[in-house]
This record gives sequence, C-alpha cells and structure tokens, in this order.
Amino acid sequence: MSGKKNILPLKKEFPAIGRKISKKAIVYLDSACTALKMKSAAKEQSDFLLKLGACAGKRSAHLLSRKVDIDFCSARKAVAGFIGAKSQDEIVFTSGTTEAANLVAMSFPFYCRNEVILSPLEHNSVFLPFYRLSKQGKIKLKIIPLKDFKPDFNAYKKLLSAKTALVCITHASNIFGGIVDIKKFINAAHKKGAKVFIDDAQYIPTHKENVSVLNADMLAFSGHKMGAPFGTGVLYIKKSLFRSLNPSKLGGGTVKKIIRKDGVYKVDFLKNNAVYEAGIQNYSGIAALKRSFELLHKIGYQNIRAHIQDIIRYACLKLSSFKEIKILGEREDLQNGSIISFVCENIQFSIIDFNIFLNEYSSKYFVAVRCGRHCADLAILNSGIKSTVRLSFFIYSSKRDIDIFCGALKKYLKSLS
Ligand SMILES: Cc1ncc(COP(=O)(O)O)c(C=O)c1O
Repeated sequence: MSGKKNILPLKKEFPAIGRKISKKAIVYLDSACTALKMKSAAKEQSDFLLKLGACAGKRSAHLLSRKVDIDFCSARKAVAGFIGAKSQDEIVFTSGTTEAANLVAMSFPFYCRNEVILSPLEHNSVFLPFYRLSKQGKIKLKIIPLKDFKPDFNAYKKLLSAKTALVCITHASNIFGGIVDIKKFINAAHKKGAKVFIDDAQYIPTHKENVSVLNADMLAFSGHKMGAPFGTGVLYIKKSLFRSLNPSKLGGGTVKKIIRKDGVYKVDFLKNNAVYEAGIQNYSGIAALKRSFELLHKIGYQNIRAHIQDIIRYACLKLSSFKEIKILGEREDLQNGSIISFVCENIQFSIIDFNIFLNEYSSKYFVAVRCGRHCADLAILNSGIKSTVRLSFFIYSSKRDIDIFCGALKKYLKSLS
C-alpha cells in the first residue's frame, strides 16, 4: 500500500467484523456473496424508516410524501452521477441484479432479431431467464466458448450476426475472478446492431464504473454487494432504449392515464424509467444505497483498488506455497478483480468437509468462504471444473484474514495425509 491511503481504519464502518458467533470471531472472505453492511448505510435506512416512512412517487401530495420524493429523486440523481449516466431518467431501481436481468429478459423486444448471446461467465440469475425464453421458443440462445477462464472473443465474433438481438456479458466473474475486457465485446455487438446488457454485480463494488464511456445499453448491479441493504439494486437503461422495451411488471405509478370510452378501458402507459418501478419502492434501501456509494467515493476507487490488489497479490503468494492447490486464472488479471478461486488436486479433499472444518477447526475463529459452483453453472460446465473454493474481498479485507485462512488450509491438508 506504499504511497496509497490505508483504508483499513474504515473497518469500524462494518460492525459485523468485530462480532463473534458462537464465541468465534468472523474471518469474512465471502464478500462476493454479499458484503458486510456499512454502519452509515444502515443508519440512513433506519433513520428513513423511523423519521420519514412515507411513500414517494407523487401519489400522495402531503409534505411528508413530498420530502420522501425529493430524497428519492436526489438518490436517483446521485446514482446516475456515480455510474456516469447521462441522465437520472436512465436509472431504474430494482431489488438487485436478479430482478434486473429478469426484467431485461421479459421486456426486451425479440421481434425482428431473436438471438441472444451469453458470456459463459453469466451467473444463473442472467442465464436462467434467457434459458426459459429459449425453451419457450421465443429466442435462440448462444453461449460464447470459454477460453482461459474468459469468454473467447474470436469465437464470440463468429456468433454475432444480423440476427443477434442482445449480448449479455459479465464484467467480473463471480467464480474465476479477474475482470473481462467488455469494451471490445460491446463495440463488436454494436457494429452488428445488437444491444448489450452488462452484469456489473461483481465489478461495481470495488471499481469506478462509467456507463457512458462503456457505451452500455443496459447494466445492472446489487446494493448488498457494496455494503448497502439487501433488496436494493440498479438497472441502468440507455434513454433511447425506453421506446422499444415492453415493461414486464405493471402497477401503480406506471401509467399516464386510464380512461373508459364507450365501456372500453384504455391505458396510456408512461414511456420512461417510472414504468419499470411499478408499485411502492424500497425508499429506505435506496437512501442507504446512496450513502454506501458516497462512502466508496470518499475512500476513492484508486485506494480501494490498491488495497484489494495488495491483498490479492499477498493471497496468491501465500496460496502458491501449497502444492496441493491450483489457483485459477492469471495472477495479473486476478489483481484486477476481487476474487481468488482455487481447486484442490488432492483426491481426498472434500469441499463439504473443508467448509465444515473452517467453521469448527478453531475455538477462536471461523472462516467464511464459499465452496461449490457459485451459481455459475455455465462456467462450471464449460470449464470441466467441478467446484472451487472462493475467497472474495471487499474494503475491510486484510492480510490477516489470508494468514488465518492459510493456517486453516494447512491444518486441513495435514489432516488428509
Ligand atoms: C455476477 C453476479 N451476477 C448476478 C448475481 C445475482 O445478484 P443478486 O442475488 O444480488 O440479485 C450475483 C450474485 O452473486 C453475481 O455474483
């Protein structure tokens, strides 16, 4: 971290770190599943619930509701600014990446073009909605081959055609770590007239994103992976796309007017982002999401990256002393992400056993990691790997966490011999 700000004092923002469960301290290496939550974001949410607690969206016009509406609009504007959107009208609040991906699958017009290309690194939250559409005969699904744990760009170019409607690409894999150079995938899709949906769930918590520089058509992420509450998320939609999408979920707040003429009802739907936010919204969660973004910006993404790079470099060094394990991916690339996955080549190694061991081996600690397929079945099936042990990091992660994990791994491997 030489020359860079030490961000670890921020650990006090994460009270869960100091806690004990069954008298054991948490060593949390599972931030890719969900990040521990930020105190200031939680306070924002609880302040909202206790001090405001009304609805926004111009349904009610009393002063309390107007105040909530002003705050909600300010959160939308702030989020638009944080991700480089040209307008706050391009921001749709969702419950997370899963809802966003389903919304895209169900709303996208597959009329003239009906082929969808998915990266092999897509999480099941993206794969499954499109898989179902393909089984219903509504689209033709193509999966980009995997090469060196990344989507193979040359193979991808061959899949693109005048029939390609949409390309879905994950910016940072939740299983193999590192990041994907998505700009070239986006440019190639656009050259063929296709649109691109980006899954930023694992990218945005520790990277500064800019949807305008990327020229993304749609992009989604989840608040809970960046210290904000569960049930918060964002779907960015480029303004020009709103005209062609057909919202899948309708309800209060999505109509301009409803009339009845000659006994027939006619609904005039809104044509903007509001039509994707049917019903009451998670106002308190969104206020907290804004707060967590503010904190990350205050820390500075350069500092965040430097901190995580330092930890990944250290983890790679320590893990490479274990002859029995194989770290997946290139070291240089791993440093750009926030995840390290490895497989164990000792045939006696059992992922289930190891997971239990990490909870039980010490009276002082338990180590939280994720073992398995990580809801990344496309990546698993295309790589031939059965399962991985995944260590994932956020701004509170430290080298001590790695030392404790490596100590546990050493003990476990020794117990097999
Ligand atoms: C890459 C990726 N995409 C999508 C998701 C789904 O996010 P959520 O469960 O927050 O909707 C995850 C969750 O782990 C993920 O890692």
